[in-house]
Amino acid sequence: MCGIVAYVGPKDAAPILLEGLQRLEYRGYDSAGVVVSNKGLKVRKVKGRVADLAKVVPARFKGSLGIGHTRWATHGVPSDVNAHPHLSADERIAVVHNGIIENAAELRAKLEADGVVFASETDTEVLAHLIAHAADENDTLEEAVRKTLKSVVGTYGIAVIDAERPGEVVVARNGSPIVLGIGEKEMFAASDVAALVRYTRQVVHLEDGELAVLKADGFHTFSSDARETAKEPLTVDWDAGHYDTGGYEHYLLKEISEQPETITRTMSGRLDERFHVAHLGGLNMDARETRGFRRVKIIGCGSAYYSGQIGAQLIEELARIPSDAEPASEFRYRNPVVDPDTLYVAISQSGETYDTLAAVQELKRKGGRVIGIVNAVGSAIAREVDGGIYLHAGPEVSVASTKAFTSTCLAFALLALHLGRVRDLSPADGRRIVEGLRRLPGQIEQVLGQSDRIAELAKKYAPHPSMMFVGRVRGYPVAREGAQKLKEISYVHAEAYPASELKHGPLALIGPDMPTVAIVPDDELLDKNLTTLGEIRARGGQVLMVGHREPDAKLADDVIVIPKNEIELDPILLTIPLQLLAYYAAVALGRDVDKPRNLAKSVTVE
Ligand code: AGP
Repeated sequence: MCGIVAYVGPKDAAPILLEGLQRLEYRGYDSAGVVVSNKGLKVRKVKGRVADLAKVVPARFKGSLGIGHTRWATHGVPSDVNAHPHLSADERIAVVHNGIIENAAELRAKLEADGVVFASETDTEVLAHLIAHAADENDTLEEAVRKTLKSVVGTYGIAVIDAERPGEVVVARNGSPIVLGIGEKEMFAASDVAALVRYTRQVVHLEDGELAVLKADGFHTFSSDARETAKEPLTVDWDAGHYDTGGYEHYLLKEISEQPETITRTMSGRLDERFHVAHLGGLNMDARETRGFRRVKIIGCGSAYYSGQIGAQLIEELARIPSDAEPASEFRYRNPVVDPDTLYVAISQSGETYDTLAAVQELKRKGGRVIGIVNAVGSAIAREVDGGIYLHAGPEVSVASTKAFTSTCLAFALLALHLGRVRDLSPADGRRIVEGLRRLPGQIEQVLGQSDRIAELAKKYAPHPSMMFVGRVRGYPVAREGAQKLKEISYVHAEAYPASELKHGPLALIGPDMPTVAIVPDDELLDKNLTTLGEIRARGGQVLMVGHREPDAKLADDVIVIPKNEIELDPILLTIPLQLLAYYAAVALGRDVDKPRNLAKSVTVE
């Protein structure tokens, strides 16, 4: 949430900051700003996108030290004044900040009582004033920042510059990511590697409580009590090309289209055709431990949670271990019983979602065994867990999750196979699943081949104000994810229900204005699902069915037919048409597909 970029080196900072902010815009996009240091601080900030900011940054905006920010508003409406950077009253200190300062009101009241006049409504501005006061009393900017942060309650990733120390940037992290980029006689920092990979692939992640001082010739990191910490740089696999649209009109379409390859990468080197098992070395668990778990509890937020519901079903079906999924944001607040015989699985594409990270930390505090299913290598959740499965899906830029969702489901299939084959799953069933997984990329390709028709259907259904999504058992989390995709990018209201629950209430909504997308795979529940379709149509509701064949009777207005695989793997293939439907509905309605209103990619606030 919100993007930060910082630069110190021999070059002009502004173009580097603007380019970095563009890469980070998916983290927040209601306002943006930059400040460079050159005989004083020069600031430009605007309500709107990074492209709007670029228009007001003049060519003579020179300075080889600077920080920039793209915002997702928490305190104060999106506006020019509330945009970051925020400056101290004497314009000596500039700060950009991600996260929330919880005691901002109290700190602000104290500062105002001392005569400080605030320019903005933000919580961040208190930091600029406090650091400026501390800078007068301390020898270094680092000490001033550390002292200020001691009085702050909340989460932050910050970058700070001081007009009187034009050769250094100080950054600090507590709950909001900060990653350093090591260049040739230049240093960078950002809230995401996306902003760095054009310049360097050598990065260092800060831990919570850490602070770093960046100068052109290198960096030093410190703990909150001023002890220097040792950091080993990491090499990032992803390069700048991974962050381009690759000729597609939107990142979302690119990411949907990449799924045959991303799914292949997630399973690559992990399937064993001889013993029909999955090799998941990253779990850091021996066979005895693997056999010992009596329950599996999965946590994640939003689409990650829905993929967890699919994962729980896969684990119950293939490994026969009782499993369930819960939103991490609920789990962490209800003082859950942490059981030593339960395997906890945290899911996160970004690896930075604050609620999921906090849930993992709570589990670890209470002795829980936690593994992660994460896409972003080296991210906070990946570093916090005891082991895990990386998705290797490549960066997901569009705010709506697509390829990470299907890769997570695939990772769950691998985990279920792994857990199943050291328990009761037969070699024959193991083989069936391995072969099914191998068929998936080609079958996803076939579904993608129906894009034009799905685009037509999207045009037909998008004008309705509301849509119902229904599915049973394996189809229910698919329906939830389908409704989530549609609402977040097209703003069409969408509800998802288990098909069996329709008659217990939501059927009252069904009528000509409320079409239903029905997930009807050719499984043991087919007849029950077809009955539901009959009930919907009897009430004048239109039905768009996604399944493996046209129903015999005229029970659906439109049908999207997908290829047949093993029934346990159906959710992965059933999801693809729903992604396309949401995408083309959003396009038909003229929405900002990759940056839907009010949302941001990584939710690093509570
Ligand atoms: C998905 O389309 C959403 N934008 C959102 O629900 C997302 O899945 C959720 O915020 C979790 O993100 P994470 O996987 O990075 O933790």
